[in-house]
Amino acid sequence: MMYYHEYLELDKVLDAQHPKSFAPGQQPAHDEMLFIIVHQAYELWFKQIQFELDYIQGIFGQDHINDNAEDLNLVRHRLHRIIRILELLNQQITLLDTMTPLDFLEFRNLLTPSSGFQSLQYRLVEARLGLRMEERHHREYYKRTNEGGFTTAHYDLLTRVEAGENLLDQVNRWLERMPFFRREYWASYPRNGFWDDYTVLYRESLTEREAGKIDDFRSFFFPDGAPSTLMSPEALRSALFIMLYRDFPVFQTSYQILDALIEIDHWMAGWRHKHLTMVRRMIGMRVGTGNTSGAGYLEGALARHYIYRDLAALSTFLIERRKLPRLPLELIRHLSFNT
Ligand code: HEM
Repeated sequence: MMYYHEYLELDKVLDAQHPKSFAPGQQPAHDEMLFIIVHQAYELWFKQIQFELDYIQGIFGQDHINDNAEDLNLVRHRLHRIIRILELLNQQITLLDTMTPLDFLEFRNLLTPSSGFQSLQYRLVEARLGLRMEERHHREYYKRTNEGGFTTAHYDLLTRVEAGENLLDQVNRWLERMPFFRREYWASYPRNGFWDDYTVLYRESLTEREAGKIDDFRSFFFPDGAPSTLMSPEALRSALFIMLYRDFPVFQTSYQILDALIEIDHWMAGWRHKHLTMVRRMIGMRVGTGNTSGAGYLEGALARHYIYRDLAALSTFLIERRKLPRLPLELIRHLSFNT
């Protein structure tokens, strides 16, 4: 017969909170228990996020995704679950506001040089979503074993996971495969190609002050040399197309997936910001236990660690619905596609 306590293996889970200040010879610091439990709760949720990513990356790792099958819908659903978890993690940081800076000082030195910086699961979530080591703020810190960086084993695991395809790569490939712009779907389109028309419409939509945006448009979607974006111009053209025509039912799931990725970035950045302001209050200008400059480092990471910034930037290039070119019938007919 199953018993609650055993099913959840609570003997293990509840025997994992051992505040260092409670050890013999130390002055017990009441708030260290909260500090440990809050971190552990974060780690459990990071585990769940990774579990959802296993499924999502499994689907996007396939060579073909049937847009009409349940897979993409489940991807959408599970991305939204990740968003909900991130919302919760944003709220959870406020629990630490019940610990004052003086309370923290009572046990802070016992932690050194460990730090949330070393959360392997957090780094894996970032890496799997698409953050690469070369994009990371102060990437040399990661290698500082014994000084707040990672153990060699953890660093190697992070490097191995990074070497694989991340979700940003996978979504990029999926978008590149979208068949919207195949010549056969546009045979009856009355004017120049869609993009010629759209460029004109976009230029007309810009105010005088925004006129320079037409250059950004070109460098985003039709760059002369190497793209300045993380995603490819082909993928970004498909993504913009989906955003423009999202009211067609067949685009709904794809649109919601793109939107969910932008929202994940939004909540991750929200968390980084909340953590930063909490840290400022808790330690002021002190260095972190993990040996970074503290709040200064966190500000840099907040500014740099956006992953889906190209997708978020697409709003720059939208025009009003009623001005959109009408899509050719052949395309609409074929919009139940396999990618
Ligand atoms: C009293 C509470 C906390 C303080 C004072 C604090 C302080 C810091 C500081 C100063 C850093 C920069 C690295 C360093 O030099 O140590 C950092 C990084 C980090 N902390 Fe915290 N932290 C606290 C709570 C938490 C909690 C509850 C989590 C949840 C897992 C967390 C996760 C992280 C992560 C993931 C980083 C790396 C951020 C990045 O690189 O973008 N921290 N923390």
